[in-house]
Parts: sequence; structure tokens; C-alpha cells
Amino acid sequence: MSRYSIFYCCKISIFVNMSVPKNISKSSIGDLVEQNYVFAAVLHFFGISFFQYEEKSLEEVCKKFKINPVQIMWELESWALKKEPTNEELFLHPIEVLVGYLKKKHHFFLRFELPFLSNMISGIRSVKTYEGLLSDMRLIFPLFVDDFIHHIHEEENTLFRRISLLHQIERGEYNLIDALTLLDTTPISELAEEHEVHDDEMEGIRKLTSNYRLTAPAPVSIRVLYHELGEFEKELVMHAKIENDLLFPKAIELEKEVKRKLVNKIKWN
Ligand SMILES: [Fe+2]
Ligand SMILES: [Fe+2]
Repeated sequence: MSRYSIFYCCKISIFVNMSVPKNISKSSIGDLVEQNYVFAAVLHFFGISFFQYEEKSLEEVCKKFKINPVQIMWELESWALKKEPTNEELFLHPIEVLVGYLKKKHHFFLRFELPFLSNMISGIRSVKTYEGLLSDMRLIFPLFVDDFIHHIHEEENTLFRRISLLHQIERGEYNLIDALTLLDTTPISELAEEHEVHDDEMEGIRKLTSNYRLTAPAPVSIRVLYHELGEFEKELVMHAKIENDLLFPKAIELEKEVKRKLVNKIKWN
């Protein structure tokens, strides 16, 4: 049995033997989300749209979805303990680690955060005051998603691929002529300039939601939506900063170094 499966079995037996305090399992989903907005995202992780079950208790919803409530609480706790590396920590790592970290974030944006936000925008049925805003968002958000997915694919297919190519050239996986031909393309410094131009992708959503600020009392589903959109934008700003301030400068240096070595090789040949 692998270490992972031992861990997994232990986790399962913990779930079987533990129970969630009655005051929590009997609480409504609406109240639990109200107390901690992260609960909405954790429920989405389990395939549950919180806004459809606001009146139901956690116990009832778990029974419907055949999930042990302990598992949900465990997940909630592990989300609270998640810690992002600081820019200083990331700066100290080699470029490959940085690319790995950014790829993981891309995956998380595409596989979790965007579907979570899209699900709320398309599914929340709210009081009249917010129906107009929701229907505008249903038009704008998919356009943002398309642009954002395009941005991620472009980044992975150009910059990330170029960094990996530079490493392959460094390891001597290409002969001199092929290496020079492959590097005869847009320099990374130009890709960096283009990247900075495309930084503000959420401008439309930010304007529509008045910078994610609610001016009147709103139901919990709308408050969660605004909060999550604001948090997502903060993450994107952070993500772009890591790319602009750390990744691109490191990649430009790497490209210079690889080109310098190739020029030296030509001199000696
Ligand atoms: Fe990115
Ligand atoms: Fe980017």
C-alpha cells in the first residue's frame, strides 16, 4: 500500500469516526455561508451551489449529495490553512519553479475559480434590485472568461514554451544552427511589453459592480458574488505582478545568457 493510500484510508476512517457538532450540522447553508464566505467555495468544490440550498441545513444537503459533513468541514479547515508564497520567496526560486507555480495557478483559475464565479453569475436568482445587474453580468462575464482563457493559452504557448526551449538549448539538445533559428523570433522583452498592456482584464466587471462595492443591503448570495469577484481580481493583480516583476525579468536574463553562450560558440567554431 502506498503512502498516499495509507493517508487516504486514515482520512476516511477519521471521517467515519468523527461527527460535526449539532449546531453546525443543523445550521442552514445560508447562515453558514453568511458566517464564512469561504464556505460557498468549499461547497462548490463538492458540486453544491450554495444559493440553491440557502434554507436547507448542512445535514440535509449532505444527505442529498451523499457527502459526510466532516469531509466538508475538513476541507474548509484545510482551505483556511492554505498559504501563498510571498514574492520574496518566489524570487529566490529558479525560473522553472516560478513557471511551475504560475501553471498551477492557471489550472486553478480555469478549473475552479472561473467555473465557481460563472456558476454563481448564471445561477443566482435574486431580488428585483439585482436582477438587472445579474443579467448585465451574464452578458459581460463570458466575454471576460474568453479573453482570460486566451491570455493563459497565449502565455503558456509563447513565454512558457520559450523558457523551456531556452533550457533545452542550454542543455545542448539542439545543434548551433537549429538553436539560432529557433531563437530568431520575437524577443522576450517584447512579449513583456505586450503582457503589461493586457493587465486590466476585469475593468468591465469592476465598473459594472462599482468596484465590488454594494451600496444597499443585499442578499447573501449577491454579497458572496461581489466578494469573490473582488478577491479574484486581487489574485489576478498579484498573478500579473509576479509575471511582470519576477518571471519576465528572469526570462529576459535567461534569453540573454543563452544567446551570449551561442555567440561565444560561433566565435570558437
Ligand atoms: Fe499567467
Ligand atoms: Fe499573464
